[in-house]
Amino acid sequence: MTSKEVRNAFLHFFEKRNHAILPSFPLIPQQEAGETNATLFNTAGMQPLIPYLLGKEHPKGKRLASSQKCIRTIDIDEVGDNTHASFFEMLGNWSLGDYFKEESIQWSWEFLTSKDEGLGLDPKRIYVTIFSGGEIDGAQLERDEESYRIWSRIFQSHGLNPEQRIFEKLKDNWWSAGDNSPSGTTTEIFYDLTGELTEGLTQDEFLTFEEEQKLVEVWNNVFMEYVKENGKVIGELPSKNVDTGAGLERILAVIQGVPSIFDTDLFLPLIQLIREESDTISERSARIIADHMKTSFFIFSEGVKPSNTKQGYVLRRLLRKSFREMLRAGIIETLIPKLFEATKEIYDGVYELDGEGIATLPLIQKEWEKYVTILEKGEKRMKAYKDKGKTLTGSDFAYLEQTEGLPLEITLELAERVELPITEGYREEYEKAKEEHRTKSKTAGAGLFKGGLAGDTPKIRALHTATHLMLAGLRKELGDHVYQRGSNITEERTRFDFSHPEKVSREVLDRVEEYVNNAIATDARVYTDVMKKEEAKASGVVGSFWEKYPDEVKVWTIKDEQGNVYSRELCGGPHVEHLSQIAEFGRFRITKESSSSAGVRRIRAVLE
Ligand code: ALA
Repeated sequence: MTSKEVRNAFLHFFEKRNHAILPSFPLIPQQEAGETNATLFNTAGMQPLIPYLLGKEHPKGKRLASSQKCIRTIDIDEVGDNTHASFFEMLGNWSLGDYFKEESIQWSWEFLTSKDEGLGLDPKRIYVTIFSGGEIDGAQLERDEESYRIWSRIFQSHGLNPEQRIFEKLKDNWWSAGDNSPSGTTTEIFYDLTGELTEGLTQDEFLTFEEEQKLVEVWNNVFMEYVKENGKVIGELPSKNVDTGAGLERILAVIQGVPSIFDTDLFLPLIQLIREESDTISERSARIIADHMKTSFFIFSEGVKPSNTKQGYVLRRLLRKSFREMLRAGIIETLIPKLFEATKEIYDGVYELDGEGIATLPLIQKEWEKYVTILEKGEKRMKAYKDKGKTLTGSDFAYLEQTEGLPLEITLELAERVELPITEGYREEYEKAKEEHRTKSKTAGAGLFKGGLAGDTPKIRALHTATHLMLAGLRKELGDHVYQRGSNITEERTRFDFSHPEKVSREVLDRVEEYVNNAIATDARVYTDVMKKEEAKASGVVGSFWEKYPDEVKVWTIKDEQGNVYSRELCGGPHVEHLSQIAEFGRFRITKESSSSAGVRRIRAVLE
């Protein structure tokens, strides 16, 4: 079976069992996915579904299935072994308070083993784990007897001894998408890649073979019953859900009977192209280039460009790492368009790679040139050091990294090339210098975050002034007990904490939004007055943390031509001068309201 056939077979299997088939969400999490989704990329099929797993009604019903594009960079250093890729697809099916363990396990088994509807895998090569019971994330939970019973029945019906097939673990059979997430116990399904472990195993043997990657996990079924906050279980979900995930690349390796995901049709064409350029390249390097370039193409396809922050930074690192492997093997950038075309071909009819009007190849070319310039400059510098008879120290490495973007490993290679001596303790010294740099930039960053602003840009000013309007709107709707308790404003959004004892309804939030947008539409002006603190307090200026301000305070008033006052608040600034400077960035919208701590609510809002 090809990747397209396996993907389709999976979706078809669950469609026949009344699941609505969802298209893959983008790689970059959407705002609606909520606060818990604070990752740069979707790392699991369930991530875009978190609000629904927490209880929100899904418009497509209670049974869902998809193949979701994911990026995980957490185990990036393992990319190049048999089973890890930075970009992968997760096949998943979900029950939102509908079926539970019985159907979930039964269907996984059927899909894996059925010759007509599924993959037709040999039951004798399948092993599973269940939750052992014990203390986990602050909760004391029982062993998962139900899953044990279901699996026992299935194995017995195939003449297999459950005791030699079902093993138990604690942490590995517990799953959540981070510290604030729906979570639950799991049952994991493993497949014997060697075909030699068909007679049943002891628990110890199972663990050894898993470690040796002879047994690979192909599917994880999570039985979501709990909610975690700050890493601790705080209660049960409103309904019992199922969240499953099967790595398409691993399933393919199994089905195609090949030793690694890089030998499947999702990678092989890329590996072959790389080998055509260099027949001496190591297996690992070829895999890294194939993986990192493919992931980069997908990131580009969602409109991201290489940069020094967030997704753009991940992209830059992936590109540079593969450039490095290419150059080491004597491969030049003419390979890249070939890899791009081959990747498009692999995903033809499944995913678009030229999305968002981004011209991927010219951008990569630019990144390549930048990288080569860095290397050339680095090389020249090494030669100059050599001429001067210098010995390279740890702080030199740190300095070169900070000022010229030369990572330690590359400086090392360049230094070796010109036989420049290096001090013995260079690594510790380098780590120390980097740590000092981190502390310094943290302190500088803390200065920048003064007043909760992540800088001073037109957008941040606009969001800051809009936040004042929002506070005025909240006080108008909810009452004078509402005060600011904290705020944090970045280019993307404002996050605002305020005193209020209970959840604020969407209707009220809509009215607050309207208040802010109406004020913006008047193009009112923003005035500042400096006055004595006591005077300001007495005249009803809104402010929190009065004690932190000097005797003379700055009061910001937002007032239109007719003299209507929209907000009057104590603040250090900076703000826009008139409200059309907010309108430039779009409408004001409250995207989320949640609890922050006892008696304090938190709002996120954007201009879009
Ligand atoms: N969400 C589960 C996982 O990623 C299925 O393993």
